[in-house]
Amino acid sequence: MKYYISSKLKKMMHGGDYNPDQWINTPEIWDEDMRLMKLSGCNVMSIGIFAWAALEPEEGIFEFGWLDTIMNKLADNGCYAVLATPSGSKPAWLSRAYPEVCRGDADGHRQPHHGRHNHCRTSPVYRDKSQLINRKLAERYKDHPAVLVWHVSNEYNGQDCHCKLCYKAFQDWLRVRYDNDINKLNHAYWSAFWSHTYPDWSYVEPVDPSIHGLMLDWERFKTKQTIDFFKNEIVPLKELTPDIPITTNFMTESKTLDYWAFAKAVDVISWDSYPGWHEKGDDVKEAARIAMHHDINRSMKNGKPWMLMESVPSIPTRGRVKKRKEPGMHLLSSLQAVAHGSDTVQYFQWRKSRGGLEKFHGAVVDHVGTENTRVFRDVSEVGHKLAMLDDVVGSTVKADVALILDWENEWALDLGAKVYLGDNVKYREECVSHYTPFWENSVSVDVIDQTCSLDSYKLVVIPMSYMLRPGFADKVASYVENGGTAVMTYWSAVVNESDLCMLGGIPGQGLRKVFGVWEEESQSYYKDETVSFSVIANNSLGLTGSYKAVDTCSVVHAEGAEVLAVFEDTYFAGSPAITVNSYGKGKAYYLACRNKTEFLNDFYEKLIADLSVKRCLVGLPEGVVALNRTDGENKYTFLMNFNDDARTVAFDDTYIDLLTGKSVAGSVNMKKFDVMVLES
Ligand code: GLA
Ligand code: ZN
Repeated sequence: MKYYISSKLKKMMHGGDYNPDQWINTPEIWDEDMRLMKLSGCNVMSIGIFAWAALEPEEGIFEFGWLDTIMNKLADNGCYAVLATPSGSKPAWLSRAYPEVCRGDADGHRQPHHGRHNHCRTSPVYRDKSQLINRKLAERYKDHPAVLVWHVSNEYNGQDCHCKLCYKAFQDWLRVRYDNDINKLNHAYWSAFWSHTYPDWSYVEPVDPSIHGLMLDWERFKTKQTIDFFKNEIVPLKELTPDIPITTNFMTESKTLDYWAFAKAVDVISWDSYPGWHEKGDDVKEAARIAMHHDINRSMKNGKPWMLMESVPSIPTRGRVKKRKEPGMHLLSSLQAVAHGSDTVQYFQWRKSRGGLEKFHGAVVDHVGTENTRVFRDVSEVGHKLAMLDDVVGSTVKADVALILDWENEWALDLGAKVYLGDNVKYREECVSHYTPFWENSVSVDVIDQTCSLDSYKLVVIPMSYMLRPGFADKVASYVENGGTAVMTYWSAVVNESDLCMLGGIPGQGLRKVFGVWEEESQSYYKDETVSFSVIANNSLGLTGSYKAVDTCSVVHAEGAEVLAVFEDTYFAGSPAITVNSYGKGKAYYLACRNKTEFLNDFYEKLIADLSVKRCLVGLPEGVVALNRTDGENKYTFLMNFNDDARTVAFDDTYIDLLTGKSVAGSVNMKKFDVMVLES
């Protein structure tokens, strides 16, 4: 079975953010753009993302002439458009005429017109005006042959808007959430603490970081209000162009919005990925981190193809040190996204702007304006290689393993657990640590949240699920009871969805029975401090030796669980570090400390073998990773060497490398940053 992002183009998409509105007075540049797009193998451009001022220079005066020209030129040149709606940046007249469209500062004042991505999500005027321009765009281009996908707005974010409109909407939303009963809210926020009891809804303002339940609700509200805003934007698009898929570019690495909630509202997932290659000299580590984020996006639509909407052909402009991609890395990192299920490689940006904040940000076409640059050649190579992957388009990824990374839990940890664990919270990093051994072993992983179904997985990994969302504990219990294997860590099931602590011992809500342990207390350590633990002889998983825990350890009592390892050399020496409990037909492992790579690799390798979890290829050297995509009949194996030197890979079978058309068998030398796409 194949799933196409658009039935109009059953090819890998390649292109990027294109801002012809910045070059409106130099039409010869537009023609040169078309020539260069063809030359670089670009077939899809994202257009009009920040073009509101060019599309509606004065209120109610619309100018589409320039966009007509560009859209026609694209179509004439065999290129398609990911057509944007422009709400990511407001025209100046709008802020001046209707100050309510600007976000409110902490002191309630409206911000001046500046920057971008800073509109009030609640403002009825901004909602009306953005819907109107979207309607005009949809009316004008609904039948245009170049239109492929809608790119709604740009990088919606979760920054605060402290305006009266948002506060009122927040309070209205809370009324519904707490059944119009202020006592329920007071209980959920434990507001008797420091005498913060709210007399009525009008008092509830998101300005009190001492009330974690309140600030958690504020985070939830901002996600909800952003999705609402998005839904308002797409009304005319759904009405006039029901067959054109809709996406908005996520920033999945950031904590700002709950993208799982947002994913339900879009047709296709897309995200903007900016890895820091060569930054700290460990590209293998960075590749694993980015792989996990690609997998979140793939998992959001059940393994169906997604869009890499932005990446950089060379280096972004950011405040920190940035290195250019070394030869080979551009192709490798582009195909890494494809290996994880993307059917596009899109860039920010097509052509460097002459001025403004991002004039030095990497682009396919540099200020020199020609094709004679290394970046242009790198991009053309990607274009050329993607054109050889027609068969892969529409194929999906299937995973045996799931890792839970939950945005609401992440917010809760940063609010509620930070006061206790300090800088050692590191939730995202901990998720990456648990993800990496699977990636290193060429095992596909779905990265899902607490709202997802667990049933199809052989193994579910639950790092630091501090906050339990309603229903999650029961889901884990029945998953294990029915034969699933779960791994959960310290600092899980500590609070409910309002950040109220579990009474009666943690892990709470019945998980104490599932995991067969009670976590009595925990503590945080300074950098460089470690606590050793050693494995019990003849344990059921076959682990051996001793390891060192870092950052945080918990004192756990086995209540029926088998103890696999115990702490040493500390006041809680002898207490369990690693346990496993049989529950129903399944097994529940508990890790009472934060672990380093050494243990996690050994532990998960044992589990992969024990559960017969599928590995895409076996026997690969470290830093060489294989991932499969499949359409049910055919399998495509992406083989990637993230090491900065060559590695020898031995194959049992014979394959064709789709990128070269050559056959691959026996022992093969993969050079630094080499990539192959193998079909057997
Ligand atoms: C984001 C934005 C782009 C651009 C790039 C530059 O991803 O969506 O408009 O600013 O960053 O890094
Ligand atoms: Zn607002």
